[in-house]
Amino acid sequence: MHRIAVIPGDGIGPEVIEQALLVLDKVSSKFGVRFEYIFIDAGGCAIDKYGVPIRDEDLELVKKCEATLLGAVGGPKWDGLPGNLRPEQALLKLRGGLKVYANLRPAVLYDELKDSSPLKKEIVDRGIDILVVRELIGGMYFGPKGREVKDGDEAAYDTEVYSKSEVRRIAKVAFEAARKRKKKVTSVDKANILESSRLWRETVEEVAKNYPDVELSHMYVDNASMQLVKDPSQFDVILTSNMFGDILSDEASMIVGSIGMLASASLGEGKIGLYEPIHGTAPDIAGQDLANPIATILSAAMMLRYSFNMEDAAKAIENAVKIALKEGYRTRDIYTENCKLVGTKQMGKIICENI
Ligand code: NAI
Ligand code: MG
Repeated sequence: MHRIAVIPGDGIGPEVIEQALLVLDKVSSKFGVRFEYIFIDAGGCAIDKYGVPIRDEDLELVKKCEATLLGAVGGPKWDGLPGNLRPEQALLKLRGGLKVYANLRPAVLYDELKDSSPLKKEIVDRGIDILVVRELIGGMYFGPKGREVKDGDEAAYDTEVYSKSEVRRIAKVAFEAARKRKKKVTSVDKANILESSRLWRETVEEVAKNYPDVELSHMYVDNASMQLVKDPSQFDVILTSNMFGDILSDEASMIVGSIGMLASASLGEGKIGLYEPIHGTAPDIAGQDLANPIATILSAAMMLRYSFNMEDAAKAIENAVKIALKEGYRTRDIYTENCKLVGTKQMGKIICENI
């Protein structure tokens, strides 16, 4: 039995979560495993109900579960609220509360969706299947920052600080993930300039000694950003810091097309994890059965892989998605000529049937 905190959130959140849960139910019966869902309000709906983005007792409840599956939070209705009361505050509280330091973002280009990549056909034909492993709670975004007067001029600073233990734990996540993939890690840094990157590189080298079966290479971040558009097929796992990962993961997700396809996992100690689609609440299409549920369904697959060690079930979901696409089923965001247009619910149903 696995306990899962389920946070549907706002807008299309509940619509896509509903489909992901149907898929998990199907996995449950096929693979003989039981899931218990603990439903929790967070985001705008929690503000409406309780006056806060997430209640402390609900955060405690989430921490007692093995994994969290989240839709998305926010919307124009709550835009006018002060910063500490906005729906996004729930996300920060969840990430911080669960201490999820590793953000995993797969960028996979499905053969059937090659037309939706902005890259040239000959580049896309080589295939794109990348996993960006980004450090999430250290580095430049969390180092000392401030303002000061320098020679009579106003100045500001941010500091990139990484400890060896911080680098070690994120590097381990990357190597473990690579073992389940093509066994290749590209560590991206700026070691020609930054001292923190030199420590990063040394530490990654040390961790690599425990993974002789995984091939490690290093790349400077400026070159990595070029290589991602020049030949993304060369990458398997990209391991990088918080700030570089923020930028590179957006670049990686763009080259494979629709935001409705992209899943993510944020991992902490042990097997605790937070799983969510990359997209937001899409207020423009909410409540119309138009949302693509695939990003959330693939997030559920990541949960099975990383929190529950159910690689076969994760693969079964990913395969079911591929079959649905191969058979020509498309929600509106990925629709191209001569395909079969379906809504959120029907896409979920078809994927369930393919498991
Ligand atoms: P968005 O991702 O919600 O929407 C951007 C565009 O992509 C829209 O045209 C939308 O219709 C489309 N889209 C998004 N997901 C889709 C799906 N599954 N299927 C088909 N089309 C999809 O980003 P936007 O518009 O910037 O933000 C809307 C609200 O969502 C805001 O309140 C924002 O704060 C919130 N948000 C929440 C996130 C989260 O909970 N993790 C992440 C990003 C935004
Ligand atoms: Mg970003």
